[in-house]
Amino acid sequence: MLVNMQEMLLKAKKENYAVPHLNINNLEWTKYILEECQNNNSPVILGVSEGAAKYMGGYHVVANMVKGLLQDLKITIPVALHLDHGKTVKACREAINGGFTSVMIDASKYDLETNIKMVNEVIDLTNGQTVEAEIGHIGGTEDETSSEVAYAKVEDCITLVKNTNIDCLAPALGSVHGFYKGEPKLDFEKMEQIKTATNLPLVLHGGTGIPDELIKKAIKHGVCKININTELQDVWNKSVRRFIEENPDVYDPRKIISAGEKNMKEAIKNKIILLGSQNKA
Ligand code: 13P
Repeated sequence: MLVNMQEMLLKAKKENYAVPHLNINNLEWTKYILEECQNNNSPVILGVSEGAAKYMGGYHVVANMVKGLLQDLKITIPVALHLDHGKTVKACREAINGGFTSVMIDASKYDLETNIKMVNEVIDLTNGQTVEAEIGHIGGTEDETSSEVAYAKVEDCITLVKNTNIDCLAPALGSVHGFYKGEPKLDFEKMEQIKTATNLPLVLHGGTGIPDELIKKAIKHGVCKININTELQDVWNKSVRRFIEENPDVYDPRKIISAGEKNMKEAIKNKIILLGSQNKA
């Protein structure tokens, strides 16, 4: 069932678990994620970056692909289709017009006033879609652009939430996109303060490489949505490389691409169990 994020995040907040946000890159990934989440009766947020949407042909292609899979695979769990790190109001508009049920407007590189203005412009475009905003800056590399970590300020989070009507907030608190160099330094004290002050479901970006205990701790401190991308890419990449090395005569793309299916599904199941979203659909 294609839905926005509202109900699934509020349920997660109430029952202290997190919904997996898993980034998709193509038909096969979307299918594996939907099948595994259905098998585990877990809600899921399909994250699509601007780059991934472009790669797949555009927002309509992605939305229609997801809708087709939900129908033909008889998927009954709640599924949100979410623009991940929409950098402009235009990108959010295109995603909404294409059939996405949720968007993130990432105006975190601008000053707070501009961030709030852009968030409100996106909210004005919605008709039932949920909206996520970011404060501070998540570090690392995404869609080929790199950036430094900047911790969110609690006062800024309060101001943004007071002046907008967002559904969830991603305060950057030390996480990075991609692999970590050393142990991540998440600011749980601030996380708790932001949770209490805003009373909104919080989002943890850069879910790859955060140790399990820290993921569980983040959920205790208000995180209801955890974004994971690189880890599934890594699992798929290693499995497919091994398959190609061991089977140099196979040229059927279906066999090559699906060499990553088993390990990806296993990784997805492990995340669902870690996040506590199993049987929460
Ligand atoms: P990772 O690639 O580090 O898992 O982060 C994903 C993410 O935060 C997408 O928004």
